[in-house]
Amino acid sequence: MCSAKASVTWSISRLSRRLRALNLSTFKAYRDHIAGNEREVENYINSISTNHTKFFRESHHFDHFGPTVARAFARSARGGTGRMRLWSAGCSSGEEPYTIAAVLKKEIPDIGQHDIRMLATDIDTDIIAKAARAEYPATALEEIPSEYHEYCEPGASKSNVVVSESLRNLIAYRQLNLLGPWPIKGQFDAIFCRNVMIYFDGPTKSKLVERFTQQLRPGGWLYIGHSESLIGSHPGLTLMGRTIYRREA
Ligand SMILES: C[S@@+](CC[C@H](N)C(=O)[O-])C[C@H]1O[C@@H](n2cnc3c(N)ncnc32)[C@H](O)[C@@H]1O
Repeated sequence: MCSAKASVTWSISRLSRRLRALNLSTFKAYRDHIAGNEREVENYINSISTNHTKFFRESHHFDHFGPTVARAFARSARGGTGRMRLWSAGCSSGEEPYTIAAVLKKEIPDIGQHDIRMLATDIDTDIIAKAARAEYPATALEEIPSEYHEYCEPGASKSNVVVSESLRNLIAYRQLNLLGPWPIKGQFDAIFCRNVMIYFDGPTKSKLVERFTQQLRPGGWLYIGHSESLIGSHPGLTLMGRTIYRREA
């Protein structure tokens, strides 16, 4: 895990790259450049975002989500049309939402019969564009258990793979700042917000968790990152496993 100091050093180094690209020599000059310049505000956010992610990261979440959420849905919705809504909040370059989609596809054999949609959001517009391309180095297969390789197809070049359309079709990507308004209608069956809140202070994190709780249907699931365990009381949420919470019914 990176320390706060290392993370600040890293942000400064990334921002310095942006200054060089603009031929600016001081952070003050950059501050003046950014003022009132919406496009540059976006570049600024994109340049300091920490996007590290991988497929099946924190795999215990998928060991839980597969049988408890996806398979249970498949069982209860069999023969009818079930509805499921999911949210990958802070989705980075897509490995998290595609992992969720792969588990859904594996656990719900008649997935096409159901109304299943996933929203995947991030503050960083460049990383969302990358996620939507769904193209990864073939070495990413090493992160993916072999039973899921069927959802990766050869890319344009031999060294790349592309996530199959059947998974891509489940996901809608949107830019969204978790600390701003959420133009979202309806509630979710599960929300994944992992390794995002580490960057927020305690009160900001508490408020965000409260908003996630409201955005979950009763009985819905919240998955958070390993270093983001919730301290103190979070009304309406019950701890069900390692960094797995459930909204009370
Ligand atoms: C370290 S990545 C985690 C990706 C993925 N959830 C995972 O666990 O592998 C954190 C992501 O959160 C996004 N992020 C940071 N602050 C955000 C905010 N205020 N609103 C939305 N996304 C944010 C970053 O752009 C980045 O892509």
